[in-house]
Amino acid sequence: MTSLALLTLALLTLRSVSSLSLWYTEPGSSSPAGSVAGDKVRGVNLGGWFILENWMMPSFFGVAPLDQYNILDEWHYCSILGKDECASRLTDHWATYVTEDDFMRFANYSLNTVRIPVGYWMWIDLEDYEPYVQGQLPYLEKALGWADKYGLDVMIDMHGLPGGQNGQDNQGVKGPIEFAYNQTNSDRALSAVQNMTQWVTQDKFNGIVKAIELANEPYIQEYNPGGMLFEDLANYYVQSYQVVRNSEHIIDGGHEVMVFIHDAFQPLANWDYFFSTEGLGLSWTNYGVDTHIYDAFGSSPDKTWQEHLDTMCYLASSIASAQTKFPVIVGEFSLGTNTYCVDYQSCFGATLADTIANLTDYETSLFLRQFWEVQSDVYELGAGWIFWSHANEFAAPWSWSQSAAQNWIPEDPTEKIWPFYSDASSGCLDISNPIAGDQNLPYFPGYANNISNINIDFVRAKYASASSASSTNDNSTSASISSSSGASSVTSPSSGSSPSASASASSSASGARRRIRGEATGVIGMLLLVVGIMF
Ligand SMILES: *[C@@H]1O[C@H](CO)[C@@H](O)[C@H](O)[C@H]1NC(C)=O
Ligand SMILES: *[C@@H]1O[C@H](CO)[C@@H](O)[C@H](O)[C@H]1NC(C)=O
Ligand SMILES: *[C@@H]1O[C@H](CO)[C@@H](O)[C@H](O)[C@H]1NC(C)=O
Ligand SMILES: *[C@@H]1O[C@H](CO)[C@@H](O)[C@H](O)[C@H]1NC(C)=O
Ligand SMILES: *[C@@H]1O[C@H](CO)[C@@H](O)[C@H](O)[C@H]1NC(C)=O
Ligand SMILES: *[C@@H]1O[C@H](CO)[C@@H](O)[C@H](O)[C@H]1NC(C)=O
Repeated sequence: MTSLALLTLALLTLRSVSSLSLWYTEPGSSSPAGSVAGDKVRGVNLGGWFILENWMMPSFFGVAPLDQYNILDEWHYCSILGKDECASRLTDHWATYVTEDDFMRFANYSLNTVRIPVGYWMWIDLEDYEPYVQGQLPYLEKALGWADKYGLDVMIDMHGLPGGQNGQDNQGVKGPIEFAYNQTNSDRALSAVQNMTQWVTQDKFNGIVKAIELANEPYIQEYNPGGMLFEDLANYYVQSYQVVRNSEHIIDGGHEVMVFIHDAFQPLANWDYFFSTEGLGLSWTNYGVDTHIYDAFGSSPDKTWQEHLDTMCYLASSIASAQTKFPVIVGEFSLGTNTYCVDYQSCFGATLADTIANLTDYETSLFLRQFWEVQSDVYELGAGWIFWSHANEFAAPWSWSQSAAQNWIPEDPTEKIWPFYSDASSGCLDISNPIAGDQNLPYFPGYANNISNINIDFVRAKYASASSASSTNDNSTSASISSSSGASSVTSPSSGSSPSASASASSSASGARRRIRGEATGVIGMLLLVVGIMF
């Protein structure tokens, strides 16, 4: 055997052990995809790649001439730069923000999925008034190749719809929610879904795209004032589902793609209605629901250590019960418990140096590891989880790379430190009784806390100019918190839950400008080693 053959063998073996086997639900099945313990989606989002969000990557917006403006999104980024300059900067960004190394690290950490947010403007002809630029597809193509090589499945998520479905920066432009205002928008959305489906299901991609999500975080009036009518969203879901089914190409021996809808911040149980109603989802096959859970907005920063953990316990029963009806993926979550400095506009009086220093605290690291563990435990009562996002310049708890390097996220996602009781609506993670005793508590290496990795002067200046600009500057589109979820998507735990731990965990903004490498040996390495010994 040549070493190339050995490598191929190792990668094929890896693929079969790490991919989710059940990205498919038989029609009428009583066991939706992702119901089997040990066969769960474990993934990371590639947010900020094909849709810029200033809060995740402010250094990108902090250079001339953009630094003269307080802008938050890709629309304004391009409208200020003009098409040529925007295309040139974005092309550099697409080529560097996500690399093959990232995919290798995901595989090393036994992840099996990447969710890739994309905007409609990648897929259809642009109108003259739209400042967006194109050219993303060669980079997406590379990513699909790396996913195939490292055994990761792909969920492609239509994150930005024409006219805007949630008014946040993450739809491409902060401001309007006009998707449902007119037929032009929905026609263009359906064309984008059609072109996207045809492209990602080509034979050359080997069936690596297992799931397509029809819209990200749409706002409906019942839950978000200014949102669209539920009927308009339902209508789009029904039409775009049909477009996927009519335009997908199924490779030999493959299955149709799984179609995901976002829950629009409605309780999961409400979607029973959708899937059991004629003319809505009743005739759908192989579908699932994506729900996003962030315990970082609203009053979340005031919660105690135990209250943050209990927030997740409280969600367990609704996720477990919905999973008996349809696959439930928590397609976005993070370890963030606040947005201090994340939006660099509301540090609540603390300097960034303070919040970064506080992350060196062992107890904070311990909390973040517990917060990861309880979330993964609870979300695996559904079909699994996908972290938001793979990178973040300032806020380590919002960055998978930094959270992994810091050992808040273990290299082996099945490694559990504390017992989990799925039916306890509080205290479900028994943090006072580590499974293997105190001597087995995790070690935190301290990479993400390396203050010298952060250009504090730049951050301070950015913070100062953003906070003064937000009150006076009409160059600003808006100065409010922008995040991947503008809605408060976490149901509060019952107010009677008893806080027990003393510290209130303040996991705040921190980050490293350079990529951090996980050091641990992973599955690929072990397989290569084993094959190498056999040889
Ligand atoms: C769909 O994509 C093709 C190229 O792949 C392009 O020619 C076509 O114009 C696109 N459709 C729309 C409606 O823009
Ligand atoms: C429909 O929406 C598009 C984009 O938001 C807008 O340009 C167009 O003027 C609207 N058409 C009507 C008839 O309102
Ligand atoms: C960081 O720690 C210092 C000292 O313990 C404390 O005064 C400060 O409030 C902390 N900052 C935050 C944001 O919790
Ligand atoms: C922190 O950063 C400095 C300078 O980049 C480097 O020399 C040092 O080794 C880093 N420390 C850790 C623990 O990574
Ligand atoms: C708004 O942008 C213009 C053009 O770049 C700049 O000259 C002006 O100083 C900015 N205004 C404020 C308040 O920052
Ligand atoms: C992944 O693991 C292999 C084997 O241990 C190692 O050589 C490689 O550097 C790791 N890659 C990354 C990006 O962590």
